[in-house]
Amino acid sequence: HCKSKMSSRPQLYDFHGVAMTHCVTDNWEKVKNFQARPDDILIATYPKAGTTWVSYILDLLYFGHLSPERQTSIPIFERVPFLEIAVSTVAPGAELADRLPTSPRLIKTHLPVQLVPQSFWDQNCRMVYVARNAKDNMVSFYHFDRMNMVQPEPGEWSSYFQRFLDGQMLYGSWYDHVGNWWKKTKTYPKLHYMFYEDIAEDTEREIDKLCSFLGLSPSAEDKKTIVELVHFDNMKNNEMTNCSKLNFLDFKISPFLRKGKVGDWKTHFTVAQNEAFDEDYKSKMKDPTLRFRTEI
Ligand code: A3P
Repeated sequence: HCKSKMSSRPQLYDFHGVAMTHCVTDNWEKVKNFQARPDDILIATYPKAGTTWVSYILDLLYFGHLSPERQTSIPIFERVPFLEIAVSTVAPGAELADRLPTSPRLIKTHLPVQLVPQSFWDQNCRMVYVARNAKDNMVSFYHFDRMNMVQPEPGEWSSYFQRFLDGQMLYGSWYDHVGNWWKKTKTYPKLHYMFYEDIAEDTEREIDKLCSFLGLSPSAEDKKTIVELVHFDNMKNNEMTNCSKLNFLDFKISPFLRKGKVGDWKTHFTVAQNEAFDEDYKSKMKDPTLRFRTEI
């Protein structure tokens, strides 16, 4: 299993045409053969698009009332297991998911759509995809790679920038990831595609849309509580949601809940990088129906 030592940062390698590390492929047989249940909900994202945010929203919608103890004693990454993770210091995600006592099971993945285990499709599971604009996604990923010892070494920002454009990131190209999941919405109705920027703009509106997809109707009061709990500052100060219990993250380098903003890319991109990015973006993102906002 993947080691969590500074000296042994994992390397990317080609896995079925996608850049991956052994930290997310070591348990592949189990992942591939994972037995989904019809009421499982898969939360899928490219890394750093707001996975934890939406996981927490879903967890509160389903289980906020059940047990206050769950909210104060079980970290979000155990309530919502990370399907493909295979890091020596935490239980393999697929096994955690197998053992989840609750129903529905909320399961997180970063897999590109073509690698999602077949059983989720066979069982016609609901899926929630969260996408974030590429510029902010790249910046967030960069800081995450700096502080996460089981991620490849990020190197200098300028080379990181280029590798992001080239799709040489864990889970491959952002462009392919968001684009192929988007395409899937046209043929798989049980997929709800959300945008980080929309949630930032109006959390309650996005929770309403999510609820109508899930067939839930929380009271106005519950919704208000959820909106408050999932606010960036509250999640950052909450030990169960700020991932401070994950021992392969180095919080001295960067926090996990870092800024939580739309538009932080402006403090990182040079003018030349922004021009190069926009030019390249146009050539890669041909579908006019998939639109991102880089500011709100
Ligand atoms: P930044 O690095 O830009 O701050 P993931 O959960 O997919 O790893 O994504 C992490 C990113 O989502 C981080 O972005 C984190 O701060 C942001 N995030 C998490 N919770 C948030 C919230 N409640 N409001 C806004 N952003 C949030």
